Formats: sequence, C-alpha cells, structure tokens
Amino acid sequence: MTVFVTGGAGFIGSNFIFYMLHKHHDYRIVCIDSLTYAGNLSTLSSVMDDPAFRFARISITDKEGIDKIFEEEHPDTVVNFAAESHVDRSIENPSIFLETNIIGTQILMDACRKYGVKRFHQVSTDEVYGDLPLDRPDLFFTEKTPLKTSSPYSASKASADLLVLAYHRTYGLPVSVSRCSNNYGPYQFPEKLIPLMVINALNGKPLPVYGSGENVRDWLYVEDHCKAVDLIIHNGEAGTVYNVGGHNEMRNIDIVKTIIGILGKDESLIKFVEDRKGHDRRYAIDPAKISTDLGWKPETAFAEGLKKTVQWYLDNQIWWEEIISGEYREYYDKMYAKRLV
Ligand code: NAD
Ligand code: TYD
Repeated sequence: MTVFVTGGAGFIGSNFIFYMLHKHHDYRIVCIDSLTYAGNLSTLSSVMDDPAFRFARISITDKEGIDKIFEEEHPDTVVNFAAESHVDRSIENPSIFLETNIIGTQILMDACRKYGVKRFHQVSTDEVYGDLPLDRPDLFFTEKTPLKTSSPYSASKASADLLVLAYHRTYGLPVSVSRCSNNYGPYQFPEKLIPLMVINALNGKPLPVYGSGENVRDWLYVEDHCKAVDLIIHNGEAGTVYNVGGHNEMRNIDIVKTIIGILGKDESLIKFVEDRKGHDRRYAIDPAKISTDLGWKPETAFAEGLKKTVQWYLDNQIWWEEIISGEYREYYDKMYAKRLV
C-alpha cells in the first residue's frame, strides 16, 4: 500500500507521516511538499533515511510534476494536507490561497482520476461552517450545517470541499472529507496561537490577544486528528464528510493564561490588540458521526496535551529558533507592528 501525503512537511502532515510509519509497517509513505514558508524539511529528518519513506519536493499546483510522481509511485491513497493554512495571511493576500487550496486540489484529483486510486482524502476544517454565537452553547457544527465562510482561507477550503464532493458525484472518484477543529501539538508553525504564545512568553515578548480574547476555539491534540484520518481512509464511506473534534472549547484568553501558568511567567505579558477582521466568534464540532460510524474518540485530554506541547517547544528550541530567525521575522514585524504599538 502506497500513501501520498501532501503537505507532509507542515504541522499536521508531518505528525500524520510519523503516525502512519509507526502504525503500518508495510506501507510506503511518499510526502509531496513544495516547502513553502510553512514546510520544514528538518521536521522530517528522523524519517528521511527510512526505506519506507520518500520525500518529493513538488507543488500540488504543478500538473506535470504531480503526473510524474503518480506514474512513478502508483499511490493507492492520497491524503491532501497541502494548503495555505493561516487566516491572517489570507486576509493580507488571498490569491495564493485560491491557487493552492482550490486549484491544487483539482490537479491532485485529476491525477487520481487519470491513474486510479482507492481513496482521495481531503483534509478540511470546521472553519467552512463559519462561526457560532458565544451565547448559544447548545449549538454545534454537524456535517449538515450549511457552509458559510468568513475568511479567504475558509472560503478557499469550502470551495475545495465542494469540488471534492463534485468529483465523487460526477466522476465517481472515491473521495472522503474530514473537517477538523483547531489542532495543537509538536511542529506547529509559530504563527498560530499556541506556539506563538509559548515562544513569545519564553522570549519575554508581549502576548498579542486579538480583541477581547473571548473568541472560542475547539482544540484537538494533533495525534487524535491523525488517528481520525487513518480510520476514515480505511473504513470511511466514499463520498462522505466526517466532522472531527473532541468537545474541547476554550476561550483564547484562558489558553494564554494557562500557557503563562505552565511556564511560570507573568500575566502582565498579555496585550489586548486590534481584532482580526471578520474574526469568527466560536467553533464547536459535533463529532457524533465519526464516533458512531467509525468508533473514533479523542484520547488526549487538553490539560495533558497542552503540557506535552509546551514541553516539546522547550525541548526543541533549535527547531523553532531557525524558523523565527528567517522570513517569519519579517511576517511577524509586519503583522504585529501595527497591533503592538
Ligand atoms: P501548515 O501550514 O503547517 O502546513 C502546510 C504544508 O503544506 C506545508 O508543509 C507547506 O509547505 C505545504 N504546501 C503549501 N502549499 C503547497 C503546494 N502548493 N504544494 C505542496 N505543498 C504545499 O498547515 P497545517 O496546520 O499542518 O494544516 C494542514 C491541513 O489541515 C490544511 O489543509 C489545513 O487547512 C487543515 N486543517 C488545519 C487545522 C489546524 O488547526 N492547523 C485544523 C483543521 C484543518
Ligand atoms: P489561529 O491559531 O490563527 O487559528 P484559527 O484562526 O484558524 O482558529 O488563531 C486561534 C485563535 O487565536 C483565533 O481566535 C485568533 C486568536 N489569535 C490571537 O488572539 N492572537 C494571535 O496572535 C493569533 C495568531 C491568534
């Protein structure tokens, strides 16, 4: 069995590669990644010499490159993690989001049709459902919730989801889609909430909380997401969407305070800054379908997962120091200069 993992040099894709190589000893895993700012080859250094693993630097928007690797490797399954993934960047520059997230998905699926696969799995997000009010804790996103996106990022992911489901209906491509809540864990790029706060706190820098900090996200430890995708590609029904989340809603401000507590820092580091444009208020997944149909349930409790994650950033300073000294510094200065005055 050969599995293509696109975007495998990023946060969730790399965790998925480690999970799959550990779990399925007879599988061949081919990582396809163009190594954008968010992709890091150093993340994959522990598996580079594994004979069951191959890394190929190809963009999913490069049709010829994608066709060539399909001809060489004949994948049984393609799991598409490759994407531009950061909401704030999509607000600054939407076009690359449409290119990668929509056209890239189309090019991959066209190759799947041409060469034949058993499954094309699209890794999507709960952000396609828009947001929920803060004062209605009884409301959750189900697979039947209408798509109603807020940011160029979520609009590009929703477009890709529709295209994936259209390829199933029109061409009979055996697809599946997972829509997961916010992930956290090792190897997350420092532009996202949890690693940004951990690293800034360690460096004694201000912790920029958008708006009032009351926005709610539904957090899932990355390995639990990887387990869900593994289950779906093996046992999930073709043409089906599965929501993935662990009923773990937290306000941003509470996460930031918890991180400060774990690191023994002072809450005076918190700085409330200008809000994100179109900022989604609350995400909350109802995972009943994947739980009933496939027996999935999250295994890592938030308190334990957050401690493990903070410890990982403490133990892997070289990994993130290399990142924050490069292009990221320019991004950070540009995005936060206005906010932090
Ligand atoms: P990430 O930004 O950490 O990694 C994305 C990876 O994709 C990088 O390695 C990058 O180099 C690669 N990539 C980007 N453009 C590419 C292209 N044209 N061709 C090949 N590779 C390309 O993202 P992540 O947080 O690991 O998210 C992975 C997927 O999961 C995304 O599709 C995202 O929408 C989805 N998702 C993320 C979360 C989350 O909380 N992070 C939650 C739900 C769903
Ligand atoms: P993020 O990690 O960017 O994920 P997403 O927007 O996809 O949910 O942000 C999580 C939440 O944290 C979101 O409500 C925005 C907020 N946030 C801050 O308050 N400050 C920050 O510096 C960042 C990056 C995010």
